[in-house]
Amino acid sequence: MSSTFAAKFITFEGGEGAGKTTQIKRLSAYLVGSGQAVLETREPGGSAGAEEIRKLLVEGAPDRWDAETESLLHFAARRDHLVKTIVPALEAGNWVLCDRFADSTIAYQGYGHGVSRRALDQLNDLVSQGFSPDLTFILDLAVDAGLARASRRARTGVAVQEDRYERMDVVFHERLRAGFREIAAREPQRCVVLDGGWDEDAVFAKIQSIIEERFLS
Ligand SMILES: Nc1ncnc2c1ncn2[C@@H]1O[C@H](COP(=O)(O)OP(=O)(O)OP(=O)(O)O)[C@@H](O)[C@H]1O
Ligand SMILES: [Mg+2]
Repeated sequence: MSSTFAAKFITFEGGEGAGKTTQIKRLSAYLVGSGQAVLETREPGGSAGAEEIRKLLVEGAPDRWDAETESLLHFAARRDHLVKTIVPALEAGNWVLCDRFADSTIAYQGYGHGVSRRALDQLNDLVSQGFSPDLTFILDLAVDAGLARASRRARTGVAVQEDRYERMDVVFHERLRAGFREIAAREPQRCVVLDGGWDEDAVFAKIQSIIEERFLS
């Protein structure tokens, strides 16, 4: 079940450096320019409690958590984010643009670290209670290109501490990429895969046309 609100809940997914944050900023500016109220948010995080949990997840050694513990932390953060931020924002008429959401947990903890899909789906049922994004953009990009972009950005000073996932090995990132594609294949109505290797303007043109066609026409 997707949201029943007039404003839409849109998530951006994909590997490191694929262009999620870049495209969210562009879509947000476009929607605001069309007279919509917009909330930009991100996972893990997006509410006071979830931001506290975020620190536990994105900083420190790559092997800091076992995969099941890590999954539970992500779902705990997501529940707080949904209840305290996302649903109230939609109720108040804001479009919600979220940088990563439940698909990232399926990709990273499920496909990446081998946590049981059935267990993750059950936790998702508990946390989301049937609520899911109206639309999900999955930015697909070759792993080496994504990691090169993310490390270039890190060298320019952004998010230098938040590199725990980026430091996992290339094979892990390949599993993620395949995982995101399988997620999209299972839910073709909700998920749109975009080529993150296109230039920024071309990716955004596609996003804009899909948003207009689905929600603004
Ligand atoms: N289509 C594009 N072509 C080339 N470079 C891009 C493109 N989109 C974004 N970039 C650049 O790549 C870097 C990573 O982009 P961005 O931060 O949007 O990715 P992300 O998916 O949010 O990454 P992360 O998962 O690490 O947060 C940035 O320096 C950004 O300017
Ligand atoms: Mg980002």
